[in-house]
Amino acid sequence: MTQENKTISGFSKLSKLGKIKWLVENFFTDPENVMRELKSYWLDDEDHQKILDEISENTISNYHLPYGVAPNFVINQKTYCVPMVTEESSVVAAASSGAKYWMARGGFHAEVMSTVKLGHVHFFFRGKREVLYDELDSLITFLREGTQEISQSMEDRGGGIRDIELKDFTHEMEDYYQLFVSFETCESMGANFINSILERFAALMTTYFSASAKNQPIEILMSILSNYTPESIVRVWVECPIDDLGPFKGDLDSQQFAKRFCQAVRTAEIDPYRAATHNKGIFNGVDAVVVATGNDFRAIEASGHAYACRNGTYSSLSECLIEDGRFKFRMELPLAVGTVGGLTSLHPIAKRSFELLDNPTASELMMIIAATGLAQNFSAIRSLITTGIQEGHMRMHLGNILTGLEASEEEIASARAHFESQPVSFSAVRDYLYHRREKIDAQ
Ligand code: MEV
Repeated sequence: MTQENKTISGFSKLSKLGKIKWLVENFFTDPENVMRELKSYWLDDEDHQKILDEISENTISNYHLPYGVAPNFVINQKTYCVPMVTEESSVVAAASSGAKYWMARGGFHAEVMSTVKLGHVHFFFRGKREVLYDELDSLITFLREGTQEISQSMEDRGGGIRDIELKDFTHEMEDYYQLFVSFETCESMGANFINSILERFAALMTTYFSASAKNQPIEILMSILSNYTPESIVRVWVECPIDDLGPFKGDLDSQQFAKRFCQAVRTAEIDPYRAATHNKGIFNGVDAVVVATGNDFRAIEASGHAYACRNGTYSSLSECLIEDGRFKFRMELPLAVGTVGGLTSLHPIAKRSFELLDNPTASELMMIIAATGLAQNFSAIRSLITTGIQEGHMRMHLGNILTGLEASEEEIASARAHFESQPVSFSAVRDYLYHRREKIDAQ
């Protein structure tokens, strides 16, 4: 296999089969098997397959991830069964267990603080600063009028452009300014709407300042939304009397549990190394719902981690308090999600997720996602400060180990029964299968 065979021009123009053929012939030693395998993951329903193929580019097959559900989520007194897509074992179990635990203690409480999204036109203005500021009001009117046509339908739904501000960054980079724009995008995440408006703004700014009457030197650098959405915030919390927290395995009582729990959260407030792992646990839940509802998990993660730095150091997204004999565990999270547009209405299973959630508004979806993140965080910390996570995690992972070791149905059933009372590890499962097979062969 030469290196030349690994490059190609015009790949995107090949048919799907043509792409696979080129790929398997140049990158694999068993092309026929790989071709068969890739095709085996195509959907029988050609219309559905076509939808998936067109979601991104150069598609040759489908990459499956498990679609699970976490029942018993009571959020503001309404019960949800939450759809979750994740590759990690234990995540859905942890969310379900956290949901059930809090269902018996008043459920999750949540409120959306604001849903404002942000974006910028980044530009250089090489004229006098005062001229730029003097022109600002008239420029803003020009920009609003020039984008009326593309913002009308969003305005009809109650959204559109909110504020337009000028920010001076010339102390950071010569002649650098930003037009800082805020938006309300209603039920959509709003990326396309925001970027279209910003790009039109950029063109209009050039037109405005190039007009012979003004003739000011402006250079647009770029126009793009910000994935940091500290003004699109949901607040979620659980609370109950400390005495209602137990019972727990072992000899831990409710008071000790509450104290250890708050200390564990505190470690993530103090130390960024712990905060990253702690917040990752929150995003185990958050991302799984975001993916299941066809939303953009990279945007959500970027915003959440930026928000975790809002006080100058990377820190915990959740906090725990003990007040007046009550245990309070809460979190504020920036979330920019949509219930219309993008994959939400294209992906057949994402559409089912919305149905499962009783067709929530974008604000309700923010609350569901945040509650799942908090449930996940609660269950992780509860395990960490009591049994440790490995016991439960390895038990959930047993199925993966057995599949990896090509265990038969019978072996799986017998291993599951055996490991009910035994610690699970890869070597313990491998040895168990080995000895069982030896015994059976000897009979
Ligand atoms: C594992 O995916 C997530 C945890 O590490 C989170 C945490 O440590 O809080 C268990």
